[in-house]
Amino acid sequence: MKTITVNASKQYNIIIDSDILSKSGELAAKAVGVCNCAVITDSNVDKLYSKTLIESLEGAGYNVSKFVFEAGEESKNANTFVDILEFLATSGLTRSDCIFALGGGVVGDIAGFAASVYLRGIRFVQIPTTLLAMVDSSVGGKTGIDLRTGKNLAGAFHQPSLVICDTSLLNTLTPEIFADGCAEVIKYGVINDIELFSLISSSIRENIDEVVASCVKNKSLIVEKDEFDNGCRQLLNLGHTIGHAVEKCSNFKISHGSAVAIGMVIVTRSAVNVGICEVSTLENIIKILKENSLPTECDFTAKELAEVALSDKKRKGNTITLAIPYNIGDTRLVKTHIGELESFIERGLDK
Ligand code: GLY
Repeated sequence: MKTITVNASKQYNIIIDSDILSKSGELAAKAVGVCNCAVITDSNVDKLYSKTLIESLEGAGYNVSKFVFEAGEESKNANTFVDILEFLATSGLTRSDCIFALGGGVVGDIAGFAASVYLRGIRFVQIPTTLLAMVDSSVGGKTGIDLRTGKNLAGAFHQPSLVICDTSLLNTLTPEIFADGCAEVIKYGVINDIELFSLISSSIRENIDEVVASCVKNKSLIVEKDEFDNGCRQLLNLGHTIGHAVEKCSNFKISHGSAVAIGMVIVTRSAVNVGICEVSTLENIIKILKENSLPTECDFTAKELAEVALSDKKRKGNTITLAIPYNIGDTRLVKTHIGELESFIERGLDK
């Protein structure tokens, strides 16, 4: 069992091992004590893992209620959010009680946001069930919901009290959902971890516990330095600024991980074309993305992508900060004027 401690505004542990869902009760009891709790999950994960979690929690003495919503990003909205809050209130959860978010990024984001506002904030435990949620969204306290205008436009920073990553839960993921998480794993290697990049160059799946631990360690170090996303945390946006535009231009037919993979290639190729990055770096990134069944190109024009990227919440006034790889393990933040974004993307498209 690997334990990584995050020292943010609140200190908490991330526990990584296989077959630990059934030990969640005893692990949580050490972190938050035994109390009343609500398990929040979605309709897919509920069928697979709620029973094991609830038995474990009840075995440890928790009094458990459960809220299940329809699986999918479409559910990450204000209606589901209010339904969760009403459920917490009718279940009688008090300020000393706790939420367990069992699922992927959608569950973690909306349950965490509910925890941040219910009674002005109660504790929550993240139990991520996808690779993407284990290595990214369950760590660092970003919670939220989508608005009709765009993704993740309402939310709060609210750190969990504990994160339990049971890597054996990844065995039930479809290859596409697993690949989505691989894009985020590769991202950490490109940002600042050449050792991780070389570990995953052999295989992500075969080294899964080590890979998850390494990504979580990388993320926790960044969150400790910049919890509220004003500085180096923006490095985690590598591939995301243009990736979100790819996702949106495709009407969300291109998945988040695939879009991040394409975004990473565009920024790297653009860096190569202005002479700040070696072409071999681009080739290595494309190779590892392809080996993990991720796409590296899209058909959208620079104009289409720039227009959407500029409506992203990452824009600040007339500038947008881009995370640009200079080498594997050396990504830097570059403030870019909004008027230059289209030509930056143009240089990154393989046309
Ligand atoms: N997912 C990016 C971050 O947590 O900052």
